Amino acid sequence: MSADGRQPGLLEGLPPRPEAGIYLDNNATTSVAPEVVAKMVPLLTEHYGNPSSMHSFGARAGDEVATARQKVATFLGAAQPSEIVFTSGGSEGDNLAIVGTLHAYPEKRHLVTTEVEHPAVLGLCRELEKRHGYDVTFLKVDSAGRLDPATVAAALRPDTALVSVMMANNETGVLFDVNEIGKVVRAHGAVFHVDGVQAAGKLPLDLEHMPVDLFAISGHKLHAAKGVGALYVRKGTKLRPLIVGGHQERGRRAGTENVASIAGLGVACDLAANGLERENVEVRRLRDRLEQGLLAAIPDCQANGDPDYRLPNTTNVSFRYIEGEGILLLLDRAGVAASSGSACTSGSLEPSHVLRAMGLPFTLTHGSIRFSLSRYSTEAEVDYVIEVLPRIIERLRLITPFNEQRATF
Ligand SMILES: Cc1ncc(COP(=O)(O)O)c(C=O)c1O
Repeated sequence: MSADGRQPGLLEGLPPRPEAGIYLDNNATTSVAPEVVAKMVPLLTEHYGNPSSMHSFGARAGDEVATARQKVATFLGAAQPSEIVFTSGGSEGDNLAIVGTLHAYPEKRHLVTTEVEHPAVLGLCRELEKRHGYDVTFLKVDSAGRLDPATVAAALRPDTALVSVMMANNETGVLFDVNEIGKVVRAHGAVFHVDGVQAAGKLPLDLEHMPVDLFAISGHKLHAAKGVGALYVRKGTKLRPLIVGGHQERGRRAGTENVASIAGLGVACDLAANGLERENVEVRRLRDRLEQGLLAAIPDCQANGDPDYRLPNTTNVSFRYIEGEGILLLLDRAGVAASSGSACTSGSLEPSHVLRAMGLPFTLTHGSIRFSLSRYSTEAEVDYVIEVLPRIIERLRLITPFNEQRATF
């Protein structure tokens, strides 16, 4: 082992590892913005009241939650702050939307989703099918990861309670046309839930004028804290609570509010709204520079997903003849954090369910890496990756015994 902890051999001769590390895994989670931390700390140390209490400590906490609700509503383009329900994050928002709708329409036993959803939706839908007797249609996507609204229309039935699709895929960044899909769902009279966890903060949103009934977001994907999120519930949408108890969140989600994190989410939403232009110009430029740099320097690789209709910060690249985990490990030793598939499935050697649903061959699903940038990413970071990754791939390919005929490693 060398002085910087690197194994001799595979990383020999690479440029020095950047001291602070390079974080290109922002679809897994983001750093908490300093402005968000500054908002949160006094609410943990000084103004720690319970918003339900009848004294000034409580009133202060209640004001903070109200201000944050207004900020989140403005950020999402909701008509009213009362349409915002604070949650513990994306998984809870998705679960509340889906289960809360099914419980509100007990006579309807069918729901529609896609094969490429995040496990927060996919796992729940499988559970509803297997253990609770619901009928679930899992829609297919095309080879670029796109969902045709006509496919959604064809799946709708008289007993369809809701349709749940993501706005942006966490692994590929590919976008679904939720406006077109929503029109189809609305014409049919079903409820439309959108998992907006990856879209929020990266794309402009105007929910009041979109055909969307429920929209889940997660704080830690947009530089707020982990364990906080929000579900947009369009006024008039029937929804039963998942967590029952106190009267918080107008009876839609019981439990003392996570005041500091909620206030931090409000600040993060302001920052995200102000940073949208940078996200779509500068972050996109850096993402494209990274993707083009890698594709030009590395043979036998390809970028996955619709190249045009996707998030500005995400690139998913497959490298033939090697395992993504091997690449990640060496990238990490070289100081770069990325991901193979979603964070929730990494650690297992199962190929990505998203890439498989897109019909990618085995040789490509196994060697895929997702880079996801943020507004804090820099050109120097991107250029470092373009410099080190081709050498890592070359070295890994030399030592990987790949059998093309049997498609095994
Ligand atoms: C598209 C999508 N939905 C839902 C979630 C779950 O969000 P949380 O981690 O806040 O529960 C994630 C997190 O990766 C996601 O990417």
